[in-house]
Amino acid sequence: MTRETETLIRRLAEKHTLQEAEFEALVDGYTPEAAALLAAEARKARAAVYGDEVYLRGLIEISNICKNDCLYCGIRRSNARCVRYRLTPAEILQCAHEGYRLGFRTFVLQGGEDAYYTDGVLCPLIRSVKADHPDCAVTLSLGERSRGSYARLREAGADRYLLRHETADEAHYRLLHPPEMSFENRMACLRTLRALGYQVGCGFMVGSPGQTSRMIARDLCFIADFRPEMCGIGPFIPHHETPFRAEPAGSVALTCYLLSILRLIDPTLLLPATTALGTLHPGGRELGLLAGANVVMPNLSPVSVRARYELYDNKICTGEESAQCHACLEARIASVGLRAAVSRGDVRRSPAEGREAAP
Ligand code: SAM
Ligand code: FES
Repeated sequence: MTRETETLIRRLAEKHTLQEAEFEALVDGYTPEAAALLAAEARKARAAVYGDEVYLRGLIEISNICKNDCLYCGIRRSNARCVRYRLTPAEILQCAHEGYRLGFRTFVLQGGEDAYYTDGVLCPLIRSVKADHPDCAVTLSLGERSRGSYARLREAGADRYLLRHETADEAHYRLLHPPEMSFENRMACLRTLRALGYQVGCGFMVGSPGQTSRMIARDLCFIADFRPEMCGIGPFIPHHETPFRAEPAGSVALTCYLLSILRLIDPTLLLPATTALGTLHPGGRELGLLAGANVVMPNLSPVSVRARYELYDNKICTGEESAQCHACLEARIASVGLRAAVSRGDVRRSPAEGREAAP
């Protein structure tokens, strides 16, 4: 590790932000030694806010039908080989009941942009989940919708929304998406979600085709500025039925390095150790936790559909029952000296800290 990298790490730990060029230098300064120092600082910052608690989110993959054609994604509409499915509201409720029994207090409803899930379908569903489990949070991850729709879903009781920005660099966004998708709209959706009072999650893939350290630095500046409550980052993994089939996967080590940087940018962030990290490395989620993550998202989808929600190749947990995933992750969390909390796991930040503090 160079003296410059060490100085940047110490400054980030103290001031919680850097200039874009400094973030770029920090990313380029990756060495195992620098990663170890960053991770140690990140664990300290996490412990100061969250102690040893890790939050579990029950992930329900409600549909793999999608109108979009993102070039990296295995469930893109052009993938004619993808066997499509959608869960009914009754099936989704059933998953939530099972999840509650297992100890989940947050349910994440994630899926492709499937026109079946109108507000008329989703609002009663969200109300039912909240009525049956008033001590639980409902997180949605259903892509881009209108302001009116986001408002109705919020009104029905949705607490949080995950919408990765994918990249904060507009030209890079165009490389990853078809022409009909817009960087501006993606960013506008994030601002709308925030204005409507959701706890908001953005995020990006590490090692997506065309990504440079300058672009990662932009992502980090965007996150430092936007101050989301949650941030999902995971390595890009190619899917064999997409235009990016021959592209290399992202790096586990760089993903962990960036998790540590994000923890230092905002010690209060809810930061998952993702399934993609666990897919590229058998101990990937443990490495993510050791780097500063504090959330894991075990799969709660019915086993019959799991393999079909195939965003990338070799996704893990497609054969396991929900109870197995829950137990597996509890053990993994314990193995790195942390504790799976039975809790909604809301962000520990005063509203003023999150919103007004942003420059
Ligand atoms: N449709 C919703 C949306 O657009 O936000 C939610 C589902 S989308 C499939 C969830 C996330 O999966 C995307 O934001 C993307 O970052 C990630 N993803 C998609 N394809 C991937 C791949 N090949 N490797 C790693 N992550 C991928
Ligand atoms: Fe699903 Fe480990 S989290 S089996």
